[in-house]
Amino acid sequence: MSRNLLTVVLAAGKGTRMRSDLPKVLHRIAGRPMLGHVLTLAGSVGGGKLAVVVGPDMEAVRKDALAAAPGVSVFVQQNQAGTGDAVLAAREAIAGHAGDLLVLFADTPLITAETVERLLGELDRGAAVAVLGFEAREAGSYGRLITGPDGSLAAIREAKDASPDELAVRLCNSGVMAFRLPAPLDVLGKIGNANAKGEYYLTDAIEIVRREGGRAAVVVCDEDEVLGVNSRGELAAAEAIWQRRARARAMAEGVTMIAPETVWLSFDTVLGRDVVVEPNVFFGADVRVDEGAEIKANSYLEGAHVGAGARIGPYARLRPGARLGRDVHIGNFVEVKNVTLGDGAKANHLAYLGDGSVGAKANIGAGTIFCNYDGFFKHKTEVGEGAFVGSNSALVAPVKIGAGAYIGSGSVITKDVAADALALERSSQDERPGWAAKFRAMMARRKASAGK
Ligand code: UD1
Ligand code: MG
Repeated sequence: MSRNLLTVVLAAGKGTRMRSDLPKVLHRIAGRPMLGHVLTLAGSVGGGKLAVVVGPDMEAVRKDALAAAPGVSVFVQQNQAGTGDAVLAAREAIAGHAGDLLVLFADTPLITAETVERLLGELDRGAAVAVLGFEAREAGSYGRLITGPDGSLAAIREAKDASPDELAVRLCNSGVMAFRLPAPLDVLGKIGNANAKGEYYLTDAIEIVRREGGRAAVVVCDEDEVLGVNSRGELAAAEAIWQRRARARAMAEGVTMIAPETVWLSFDTVLGRDVVVEPNVFFGADVRVDEGAEIKANSYLEGAHVGAGARIGPYARLRPGARLGRDVHIGNFVEVKNVTLGDGAKANHLAYLGDGSVGAKANIGAGTIFCNYDGFFKHKTEVGEGAFVGSNSALVAPVKIGAGAYIGSGSVITKDVAADALALERSSQDERPGWAAKFRAMMARRKASAGK
């Protein structure tokens, strides 16, 4: 839906309870900073204009915001004097905008676009301000939504300023608010800081709007959607909720998970139809798995593309640049980094394939190593189509194995091998017929005479 909307994302704030060198909003959920999640939400709600408020020493936050949402305007809040003050840091954007205003908190990363649409719908129904609320299991330090006898929203009371009666209220403020006001800066300008924290509370806008005759509405959503992250424990709780949702979505789209609660997905994981994911699999950033592929237990994937019908693991590790064609098999204790494998290629056991390419239907034996690093530079190993690399071979890069060539087991290959050739690099076998039987007989005699 296209709207005339300015979204202001608040990303400053001290985050003292995180005890971290990293700004709170750059802590990650599913591999992406919380701020990135919220900027994506802002983008999907639409409406065009997007502003982010960061702290003065938050160059990293600014960069992150610009990377996640290139058109965003970034404002600096000089002193973290509260959420009301933070919105005013974006004064310039608000002044230049005639339309609705949406405020999102970068520390509240799980809200869905549908819920924000519901909130904005209240503005269309005549509310001057709409607040997203939830019934808290434990209201703790959340602001309480104080409703009037008719059920309308009268005020928001921060926990530190609340009376015992108000503290008993379980309907809480998520922090997400939408305004349709003729002069929002006037309302925001009237917010004072005479409260327990000495901060300018955005939540005070409710009473100001009401005094001026505007209606305040509450939209209630599930608590899981509006978890505000103020500590590492809450960060982990948000991660758990995000993962639960993402697994459910993947399964709804046709992915089989035997033990979904043990599978970790990233914000950008793409799993095709009829993919099967066994227990204890971790998907880092930038992984795509095509239809019907199987990811067996205890595998770790990041920056990888797995072709349709491929079979990965158990205990496989795919690292960035692993590009696997259709029906490729990567077995236990095989590590693949920056290697393209053609359709039907196999490396089933205990191998390191780093920097290079493996042609279609080639077979990489157990214990094969691509020796890609000389201590200074990385080099490429190229294995041609249908080649057969015997077990325990070391392919010292740069090196090319021609199509259809055979490498004898245990070889250390330092020179290119021609197509369809056999390359062997080991001493030839020496065999002595009957030696073992004679040896045993001799030793048995020796032992018998020693025992007398
Ligand atoms: C706020 C709400 C509270 C609500 C809770 C929901 C106020 C006064 N309180 O409390 O009613 O229940 O969120 O999670 O609004 N920020 C700035 N600059 C500041 C202060 C905060 O940018 O000066 C940003 C923070 O980065 C964060 C958001 O605003 O993204 C909320 O700030 P936080 O300090 O976490 O507020 P809460 O105490 O959680
Ligand atoms: Mg908070």
